[in-house]
Amino acid sequence: MSTFPESVNEQIGYEFAASQQYIAIAAYYDAQTLPQLAAHFYRQAVEERNHAMMMVQYLLDADEEVVVPGVEAPQTQFEDAVAPVSLALAQEKRVTTQIVELVKLAREEGELVGEQFLHWFLQEQREEVASMTELLAVVERGKDNLLHVEEHLGRAAPDGASPLEAGAPPVAGGAL
Ligand SMILES: [Fe+2]
Ligand SMILES: [Fe+2]
Repeated sequence: MSTFPESVNEQIGYEFAASQQYIAIAAYYDAQTLPQLAAHFYRQAVEERNHAMMMVQYLLDADEEVVVPGVEAPQTQFEDAVAPVSLALAQEKRVTTQIVELVKLAREEGELVGEQFLHWFLQEQREEVASMTELLAVVERGKDNLLHVEEHLGRAAPDGASPLEAGAPPVAGGAL
């Protein structure tokens, strides 16, 4: 069984894999001239990269070894415009399970500082699962005319930082 720091290192790989998957999804929509969908996933890719780098900073602060795991190539081909969002939602749900398992491991090992670090990620996952669920509903409703989805995303563009950003853990090298 992995120790808590080893598991945090594994999670760094999962966060980078999520980032790569979102770049692949963004490029897929960009190639179809769906700029709002593309922009949404380009932003998500940067967020996932920042998550990975928060974990790097945590390991540095804890004086633990930093491993930067290689990642599997993302899926780049999709049967229709709904499939990438379904994949993204499944990915967010999987990451939620991974973070929950990390929290449990931190508790078992008495790594309370590590557990506290992860609390922000639990909140973040709640938000990401909720917003991806919403996006899936929007894309399913608009799949016959994706310009409706583009209009919706254009209107719903975030006009400020999420309240979660204020309490976010520090990012190694600075947040992008
Ligand atoms: Fe993440
Ligand atoms: Fe995420």
